[in-house]
Amino acid sequence: MKGVLSERKTLHPQDIERRELPDAAGRAVRELAREISTTLDSALRDAAAAATTLTDPVLIAQIDAGVAELPDDVHHALRPPATAAGATIVRRLPLTDDEFGPTPPDWREAARWSGAADLRARSFELDLVMLLLARCAGEPFGWQGQQGGRLVNNILPSPGHEHEQSGASSKTLLSPHSEDAFHPERANLLMLGCLRNPDSVGTTVSSVRRVELAAAQRRLLSTPLLPILPDVSYGTGHEQYSAAPLPTLWSPAGPDETTLRYDPAYTPLDDADPEFRAAYAKLTDELERVCVTAALTPGELLLVDNDVAVHGRVPFTARYDGTDRWLKRVNVRLPDRRRRAEESDENGYGQRIVAPFRAAATSAFVSGGREPVRPDGHRVNQPVATEREATHDRGSFEHP
Ligand SMILES: [Fe+2]
Repeated sequence: MKGVLSERKTLHPQDIERRELPDAAGRAVRELAREISTTLDSALRDAAAAATTLTDPVLIAQIDAGVAELPDDVHHALRPPATAAGATIVRRLPLTDDEFGPTPPDWREAARWSGAADLRARSFELDLVMLLLARCAGEPFGWQGQQGGRLVNNILPSPGHEHEQSGASSKTLLSPHSEDAFHPERANLLMLGCLRNPDSVGTTVSSVRRVELAAAQRRLLSTPLLPILPDVSYGTGHEQYSAAPLPTLWSPAGPDETTLRYDPAYTPLDDADPEFRAAYAKLTDELERVCVTAALTPGELLLVDNDVAVHGRVPFTARYDGTDRWLKRVNVRLPDRRRRAEESDENGYGQRIVAPFRAAATSAFVSGGREPVRPDGHRVNQPVATEREATHDRGSFEHP
């Protein structure tokens, strides 16, 4: 897969659904974000702290109130992908390259610069824009062990991480995968916003609804046979949790509705029989065949349906001179989205989400209302998550 994908740097606009944010809609989002940013600056003066995770209850309330006032065009543009591509590019979010400063060297600096008025140009306002747009789509959430629990993550190449399977990497192909495939509370929708991408580095997307498989292969892949384990960035503590066998494919209403959980690097395929492995290999080949590469430009958002499509990134060479590719990412839950009932019994290997919007809506519950949480988002009676290796968005393990 590596060889083929790395050569696919061409944009195939006909293969991904495309939408445009009307001028007035884009302006409305920017103005609202500026307004909230200004209010926070004067109301909190600890705005830097709010910017650290974007989970401050005052901010959450302002986002919720603001989203209700945004034009219908914004809500309409941010609806989930509507075609079999499982991905949508939303164009024309207004932004200019000189407003958010140089590309930071890592997510920690990005977070620090974002909230500190006296440091570099701020990208805090862009974080608020992303949060508003994500809230139009559904419920933005973060992971306690990822980028400090921030709701808006920065994806940028970091020195020393070039060859990792992570958002901080560059020189290696980021292999196609479902985001956080191992976890029952993984995002339904991933939102990637492009601030800059001067080398037209491609994000790859492959939809399971475009693959062709024999009925017997679909049957095999729909059998709960193997687990998907957390990537190594979560540490080694997950052995204490039982690993539930999962189906790779789930088709509650026929092939047109098929969803997938796919992360071959963290699936113990050697434990399966040759027949299953062959079916899995066929799926991998098919995902490669239907792969589409989107080279995002500034002001474009890529919405990936994480139940329908896997995503990755082609290799590139980072410059580390402040001009490198810089994306902002938000995980979004779609409350109406149906998932396999058995998933509610999965333990998630101890990893916890940060879900302030759900907490705000229900006052005291997250995780589908099953378990109470403290105000900081931790569930009561549950251990705090293992801190996920901070730089990574999916691990430092070099996938085969
Ligand atoms: Fe990913």
